[in-house]
Amino acid sequence: MDWGMRNRMHRMFSPASGNTVMLAVDHGYFMGPTHHLENARATITPLLPHADALALTRGILRRCVDPTATTPIVLRVSGGATILQDDLSDEAITTRFADAARLNVSAVALSVFVGAPHEHESLVHLAELVDDGEEYGIPVMAITAVGKELEKRDARYLALASRVAAELGAHIVKTYYCEQFAKVVEACPVPIVVAGGPKLDSEKAALELARHAIDEGAHGVDMGRNIWQSAHPVAMLKALRAIVHEKATVGEAMDVLNEERTDAGTRAAAPA
Ligand code: 5RP
Repeated sequence: MDWGMRNRMHRMFSPASGNTVMLAVDHGYFMGPTHHLENARATITPLLPHADALALTRGILRRCVDPTATTPIVLRVSGGATILQDDLSDEAITTRFADAARLNVSAVALSVFVGAPHEHESLVHLAELVDDGEEYGIPVMAITAVGKELEKRDARYLALASRVAAELGAHIVKTYYCEQFAKVVEACPVPIVVAGGPKLDSEKAALELARHAIDEGAHGVDMGRNIWQSAHPVAMLKALRAIVHEKATVGEAMDVLNEERTDAGTRAAAPA
């Protein structure tokens, strides 16, 4: 791996733990003004100092993140279909690589839709992006998107999708946690980070998801809604850091969450 590529990977993945806590705020590219991300700047600003990387689109980066920020940027460069379409897989590359380089990003990210109508195009986009990434020393993160078919989130499917992404040269794979997740990790020779998915019933459930994922070999999380839709987003992000970087148990992470709750970092009544 070339110096620039290694340097960018090390900026996102802690050399001490080998893991990362990415904050995902790219949902608007196909979901529009998602709950609690309507004002992206207001959501991102207090969380930014506690994230190892920020995953978003160039529009939100340019308009809602101060250019003095030092947090590594993971730039989503695929899009073109919204939740108003039945087939979410009809995506193109929506940002030229030169613009990603201009934005000084640490990685680019795109969705791959294995098994969906536009599987072929999304996989070719990944391969082409990897060619550019190798040329510029910028890692490519493949996101194993399941579109509206949430039932696809099983180990057999996610292992297939993750392995295909790695075979095509992805440097990082983002996928979902599932039962028998270790099988997904075992078959994927590049670091895997897990998304959180829709908001779970409690912070504890999201912390348990992260704990299980790390125990089964994930190198971190790229989580959104379970952080910024929490009543305590900053405290939640710090609790996740304890799990991902400090080997905290779920109980210890809940202690962090409870200790870090402040009026300033709270948007609603504390959950029971
Ligand atoms: C949207 C994405 C999201 O970044 C990803 O799903 C992570 O966010 P969440 O934890 O809310 O699922 O890729 O397409």
